[in-house]
Amino acid sequence: MKKKITIGLGCLFLLALAACTEKSQSTDKKLETHVENLLAQMTLEEKIGQMNQISPWGEPTQIAEAVRKGEVGSILNVVDPVAINALQQVAMEESRLKIPLIIGRDVIHGFKTIFPIPLGQAASFDPQLVEAGARVAAIEAASVGVAWTFAPMIDIARDPRWGRIAESLGEDSYLTATLGAAMIRGFQGSDLSDPTAIAACPKHFVGYGAAEGGRDYASTFIPERTLRNVYLPPFEAAVREGAATFMTSFNDNDGVPSTGNRFILEQVLRKEWAFDGFVVSDWASVAEMIAHGFCKDGKEAAEKAVNAGVDMEMVSGLYVAHVKELLAEGKIRMETIDNAVRNILRVKFRLGLFEQSHIDTEAPSVFYAEAHLAKAKEAAVASAILLKNEGDFLPLTDQIKTIAVVGPMADAPHDQLGTWVFDGDKNYTRTPLKALQEEYGDRIRILYAPGTAYSRDRATDGIAAAVAIARQADVVLAFVGEEAILSGEAHSLADLNLQGAQSELIAAVAKTGTPVVTLVMAGRPLTIERDAEASRAVMYHFHPGTMGGPAIADLLFGKAVPGGKLPVTFPRTVGQIPIYHSHNNTGRPYQGNETLLDGIALEAGQTSLGNTSFYLDAGNDPLYPFGYGLSYTTFEYGNLSISADRLRPTDELTVTFEVTNTGKYDATEVAQLYVQDCFGSVTRPVKELKRFARVALKAGEKKTVSFTLPVQELAFYTIDMQKKVEPGDFNLWVGPNSRDGLQTTFVVE
Ligand code: GLC
Repeated sequence: MKKKITIGLGCLFLLALAACTEKSQSTDKKLETHVENLLAQMTLEEKIGQMNQISPWGEPTQIAEAVRKGEVGSILNVVDPVAINALQQVAMEESRLKIPLIIGRDVIHGFKTIFPIPLGQAASFDPQLVEAGARVAAIEAASVGVAWTFAPMIDIARDPRWGRIAESLGEDSYLTATLGAAMIRGFQGSDLSDPTAIAACPKHFVGYGAAEGGRDYASTFIPERTLRNVYLPPFEAAVREGAATFMTSFNDNDGVPSTGNRFILEQVLRKEWAFDGFVVSDWASVAEMIAHGFCKDGKEAAEKAVNAGVDMEMVSGLYVAHVKELLAEGKIRMETIDNAVRNILRVKFRLGLFEQSHIDTEAPSVFYAEAHLAKAKEAAVASAILLKNEGDFLPLTDQIKTIAVVGPMADAPHDQLGTWVFDGDKNYTRTPLKALQEEYGDRIRILYAPGTAYSRDRATDGIAAAVAIARQADVVLAFVGEEAILSGEAHSLADLNLQGAQSELIAAVAKTGTPVVTLVMAGRPLTIERDAEASRAVMYHFHPGTMGGPAIADLLFGKAVPGGKLPVTFPRTVGQIPIYHSHNNTGRPYQGNETLLDGIALEAGQTSLGNTSFYLDAGNDPLYPFGYGLSYTTFEYGNLSISADRLRPTDELTVTFEVTNTGKYDATEVAQLYVQDCFGSVTRPVKELKRFARVALKAGEKKTVSFTLPVQELAFYTIDMQKKVEPGDFNLWVGPNSRDGLQTTFVVE
């Protein structure tokens, strides 16, 4: 763990500042004074150096020399505390102005102890748990000298073909804003200068998840109104939460790459939101504006990025190469450079980096602490979503004497961790197979035959062995899904069926007549309709992380009750994409009673099917809707009432209802509140999530739940691009998901 040792006399007066760095207004004035004092001493080269982030290249001595000369402001992807100490020592003792480096790393869902991927954590609908997970990640990462994580990723993701849906918090703006803010709290803690705090970096600003065709890095076409009503709110919430930095996105939106987009970086982020941290580009996204065809060469890319408001360039080195010349040519103003450096220095001061904390490499490790593993298990339990449970087949009872474990994900310590795991060690992964053997192997016969070796494995010669053990068992546990490499950045898929021979495996073991419980570990929704039909029960685990095995074992045997809810809609088929709950109604909305393909008469008349918006071969209904998830118990909603049915824009609406646990297991329900603005100056979504709450209920218990909703939260960017509440009729629902529930109406005058 870090202990505070000052390095060099030059830090003493800064130490005094850092020690009292609080968020009070007066300290900010002191902070700004020190920023200005330091800026005034800097040469142009040193200023450009602060705007330059490198990833380790060449020999360490070469990097040290660049640091010594003040040519580097940040280094990413160094996680060896000895190396970090050495680099900081050069920066703090041997450079002219002793400005510390800020060390960055992608700590997306854990550093060493790996939590469920963010899409899985979102399924918990539990801000406290999400915050706790980020706190654990920060403690472990800070212990080696990482001061900055490139997270949370708060791109709205509505296309499961896009591999990075795994890193997202799902399709909903309100859920993403709420959980993204929770992650920022967890990473940054209550005081950014705390030794366990790391700077957050909401990304990717903005609209990246709307990549055309779900193909990573592809163009997006999001008009300003949709940007403001759907994609920007989570980032605004991140600024309100005090996020220290922002990262631009790779995509061009309506022809403008975010890394050169003055509108979002200056007008929205700085002028409208008053963000005072710093903006970093994504990996080489400055240089990539050449490939976009937005810049003719590196010099123009540097010019457009600096002038748009990208304070720090990640790894493409164009600022160091061109800013001095651009300044001399009058294409960049010194004020712009100074503001970029101010933003960077401000964050470094807030982080307490000038009070150089030497990493005590002899301190006891905090990696995989029992408390960290326990929290990771809690998160894996809360992230599990029960999608099917025919005849209450789960939880397994002591009638089960023999279990057949099959599938390539039953014992996959690397793949169970999911994408964006740079530092987690697969040797610490507790897989379902091992957890079941350890916890139940003494009293239940556990047979194992993977059937296929890995998720893409098309070979079927291993299925016979799986069938053979299925015949001997009381239940088959089929662990299927996708390898980690099929998920995450640059890993888009055009087909979302289970890869390889996994579906054949499920069909073959189901054919034995032994009940099958299918457990999916994946980084995205998969089109598992036929696999679910062959299964008695289906549980979904968006790559559950280090402790996925023990969590699943507890869930299967009822030591824990599943309560996760889908943060993203599941399509029946990839052709239905995009499919999400908060869609517009269209002028010919789907009725749900349309005649589908097999029901169409021969030579049916051209208009006989009713001209509504649906797919003849798939309908519009998702396989599972947003917010959906079952439990081992059942819940009943009742007595919905609202504080008034006519409200003014300045009023608050109180929504009250009862939830009863009508089953036999103590459990937690995620009660959800949705609203529809029935008509407006622009078309509005058919449903929008506005509140949710986790309600713990003992078997038979009833609780009254109350949500307070300021009418102002119904505001949206209207036809004149002004954010306001429009008068009119509203529908309101409370319920277990975005499809079912109790409804009422109210009017805003
Ligand atoms: C990657 C990702 C970004 C990440 C960065 C640094 O390409 O787009 O999310 O933080 O580069 O690894």
